[in-house]
Amino acid sequence: DAPESLKPRPPVVTIMGHVDHGKTSLLDAIRQTNVVKGEAGGITQHIGAYQVTSPLGGKITFIDTPGHAAFTAMRARGAKSTDIVVLVVAADDGVKPQTAEAINHARAAGVPIIVAINKVDKPEAKPEKVRSELLQYEIQVESLGGETLEVEVSAKARTNLDKLLEIIQLQSEILELKANPDRPAEGTVIEAKLDRGRGPVATALVQRGTLYQGDIVVAGSEWGRVRALVTDQGDTTPEAGPSMPVEILGFNGAPEAGDRIAVVENEARAREIADYRTRQKREQAAARAVV
Ligand code: GTP
Ligand code: NA
Ligand code: MG
Repeated sequence: DAPESLKPRPPVVTIMGHVDHGKTSLLDAIRQTNVVKGEAGGITQHIGAYQVTSPLGGKITFIDTPGHAAFTAMRARGAKSTDIVVLVVAADDGVKPQTAEAINHARAAGVPIIVAINKVDKPEAKPEKVRSELLQYEIQVESLGGETLEVEVSAKARTNLDKLLEIIQLQSEILELKANPDRPAEGTVIEAKLDRGRGPVATALVQRGTLYQGDIVVAGSEWGRVRALVTDQGDTTPEAGPSMPVEILGFNGAPEAGDRIAVVENEARAREIADYRTRQKREQAAARAVV
């Protein structure tokens, strides 16, 4: 895209951290929802994507990842489609294996980290201990003379939520994030499922261009005509621009999380690409079976 076609876009922020350190609770507190309550065993099993407006007026897209050890690949995918990682560390529990792993994912993806020390409402909270533990992972927060932005928060007591949003916006302004909204859309599948009533549903993040209802899309070996676009609020929308998370209805089959999405000129082209990738997949599976 030509430089003059680039327009400012909201940051995509992935929330990462050890299991039960309060990632979903923090997002719930920010969005004033209660996603945690609906989760089986309080464990996040999928990636959620939401957009909020910060107190400074800018939009922020959040991606929530599971902390459970079984979901490493999903966290890696989250880190890859992101501009900023918010590393949630519970002040009563400290740095744990999935905290370290999240740091590694963020580093591998070259993404700046903001540290959110959560659960500071707890009497046993030791935020100072968290700061010093992070030094072992070469994260030096500002209050220790380093450059990593940090904030003490409590999802439960709703402490410093606005401050967290302001820090995110500050960090994103430094990054000068831009995209061309006036081109065919490209993005990434965050998750996909086969919904009994709605058919294949892909939650996607638009990264460049604008996606419109009626567009022909390809993702991995699946394609379709966009029948409807649904926002994180459950409303339909005629279009989704850069950094917007959106559910896409109309795929012929469910694509895979991590698949790239692209708009193509017509159905014949979409079918051609999808068929080619299906054959590729089959051949790779056959090759593996021989080995
Ligand atoms: P996974 O997605 O399963 O990795 O967990 P998570 O990081 O999303 O944590 P979750 O939001 O499910 O919270 C885990 C537990 O910590 C829940 O019982 C929350 O109520 C509790 N919790 C989260 N934030 C706070 C907080 O700020 N203070 C206190 N006291 N409890 C909290
Ligand atoms: Na949890
Ligand atoms: Mg969670």
